Amino acid sequence: MRIAIIGSNGQLGTDLVKAFKAQHEVLGFTHKDLDVSDYNSCLVLKECNPEVIINTAAFHKTDQCEEEPLKTFSVNAIGARNIALLSKEIDATTIFISTDYVFDGSKNEPYTEEDAPNPINTYGISKLAGECYTKQNPKHYIIRVASLFGVAGASGKGGNFVETMIDKARKGETINVVDDMWMSPTYTKDAAETIKKIVELGIPFGIYHATNEGQCTWFQFASEIFKLLGVTPKLNSIKTIQLQVKAKRPMFSALKSIKLLKHGIKMRRWEEALREYLMEKGHQNKCFLQQI
Ligand SMILES: NC(=O)c1ccc[n+]([C@@H]2O[C@H](COP(=O)([O-])OP(=O)(O)OC[C@H]3O[C@@H](n4cnc5c(N)ncnc54)[C@H](OP(=O)(O)O)[C@@H]3O)[C@@H](O)[C@H]2O)c1
Repeated sequence: MRIAIIGSNGQLGTDLVKAFKAQHEVLGFTHKDLDVSDYNSCLVLKECNPEVIINTAAFHKTDQCEEEPLKTFSVNAIGARNIALLSKEIDATTIFISTDYVFDGSKNEPYTEEDAPNPINTYGISKLAGECYTKQNPKHYIIRVASLFGVAGASGKGGNFVETMIDKARKGETINVVDDMWMSPTYTKDAAETIKKIVELGIPFGIYHATNEGQCTWFQFASEIFKLLGVTPKLNSIKTIQLQVKAKRPMFSALKSIKLLKHGIKMRRWEEALREYLMEKGHQNKCFLQQI
């Protein structure tokens, strides 16, 4: 198949390119190649005539989204609309990457594809609008991922949580992490492989959750990182209320998929994925550990 990947040098985009390129023709598009919020610049996609267009582009600095709602909606909602309409015109399948932040967090157990979204911040509202626009192309998959960590690091966020933790430990800083906010850490390599399976199996169009199995608080996630590395930095658990941030965040946004299982797709546990990530990044060698 001919697959176009928008945001191909991003954290998830990089792993999508790797996952698809062995068996498919991959056309990667970076922000320099096209701007999803500008329909005319997306026309370059039409010329390549892809069968599938995967849109990973997003403005996802959650606190900044509160201050820049126009930019947030231009990229996350209008961008999704442009890609859906263009895909429809060329009879291509649209894949929109969405988020756990479309939920409000009040369920207190993992959200499935059947739960009703109710976003509580600008980023989540814009991504839900992006989901709605994506549905304008009947041939669509909306794939919700969460708390991503990948070897490339999020370009939009300047890294990822794992790297931030390791960096702070190396500097000998005291690390304060919230222990009352739950989520599903997800390795982009695993999310990319799952998206590839969805495409190759041609399962029914619709919404799917693609996160590593299990859930934890951010503090538990940090603890596991340091446990796997065999280091003991100064790590404290704090409450979300102690943080001064612009955007409200769902206190419980772990996801699980009941729909993928029906098609034989199951993702491994986040701890196992984290172990592989640390190896792949070369964080588990002696030189690295001496630096902490
Ligand atoms: N990171 C997370 O924890 C997380 C959690 C849940 C959902 N998600 C969703 O997962 C997707 C991928 O996240 P990620 O961590 O891989 O993000 P990322 O590394 O920031 O990748 C996003 C890519 O999109 C590009 N991009 C940004 N604005 C664009 C625009 N207007 N037009 C075209 N390209 C644009 C970025 O390029 P530049 O950097 O050059 O602008 C980057 O290559 C996003 O849709 C995000 O909403 C992420």
